[in-house]
Amino acid sequence: MAAGSADSVAVDLAVDDMSEPTGRVPRVEGGEPTGRIPRVDVDGDPTLAVRSPVIDMKHLWKTYRPGSLAVHALRGVTLNVDRGEFVAVMGPSGSGKSTLMHIMGCLDIPTSGTYELSGEDVSEMSENSLAHIRNREIGFVFQQYNLLPRLTAWRNVELPLMYARVPAPERRRRALASLQQVGLAERVDHRPTELSGGQQQRVALARALVTNPALLLADEPTGNLDTASALEILGLLQDLHRSGRTVVLITHEPDVAAVAGRVLRIRDGQIDSEEVAA
Ligand SMILES: Nc1ncnc2c1ncn2[C@@H]1O[C@H](COP(=O)(O)OP(=O)(O)OP(=O)(O)O)[C@@H](O)[C@H]1O
Ligand SMILES: [Mg+2]
Repeated sequence: MAAGSADSVAVDLAVDDMSEPTGRVPRVEGGEPTGRIPRVDVDGDPTLAVRSPVIDMKHLWKTYRPGSLAVHALRGVTLNVDRGEFVAVMGPSGSGKSTLMHIMGCLDIPTSGTYELSGEDVSEMSENSLAHIRNREIGFVFQQYNLLPRLTAWRNVELPLMYARVPAPERRRRALASLQQVGLAERVDHRPTELSGGQQQRVALARALVTNPALLLADEPTGNLDTASALEILGLLQDLHRSGRTVVLITHEPDVAAVAGRVLRIRDGQIDSEEVAA
């Protein structure tokens, strides 16, 4: 994070930018499902419960106050993501991408504006309720994998199911199925240090998928990977999208963003432009 970089910090702007929504761009179909990544069945399939859009943000502001100065990391973001879309968010360092992802992922709440996730207003929820929604609705993948080093691959993957109080035998079954989905059936008993970077990221992806979330959020998931491993991860994200998953991918790299159906560009905390893939 480029804390305090001059081009990115909008200090105490008095003007509330409540510009009109850009209007929703029709979603681009990703082709027929390939069925290569079957969805893991859970109680109450979210595909039935979730009405599009998955993400509905209006006039979202996020202001940090680390000291006496206010940092407006998001300045009036309005955006929708429909169920089954694959959206990339691009923008320079410090433009607000991670802040946006944290709010999308219910890791944080906006300072003002509204956010409905799968039709539920999450903009003013308590930390407890947010934690519950996160566990149920969202899978995260980060640049740094964020695996627990002492746990084997499948133990890492079962963690979200422990929080969801899923019984142990089912946790193991679903963790193994999820690892198989990402091509790591042969590595389930390896610890993170016994895996390559690309394999660690695949474990992280398996962990993100194991709860069968409505939304998969990936913040620079290929940022630490060599080209071949990055392509593997992007291929998996594309497969997931084709099998009906909603994916939001944050990246600096145009090549990475190119796999998405729609690319949003963010600059100084505002959506600057959007492009729909041809
Ligand atoms: N917890 C925080 N407290 C204060 N300021 C913050 C905090 N988190 C982010 N910021 C500021 O908000 C702005 C947006 O940060 P953010 O991390 O969202 O950028 P980013 O687009 O993800 O950048 P990068 O590409 O470097 O990851 C930056 O100016 C940053 O310094
Ligand atoms: Mg970031």
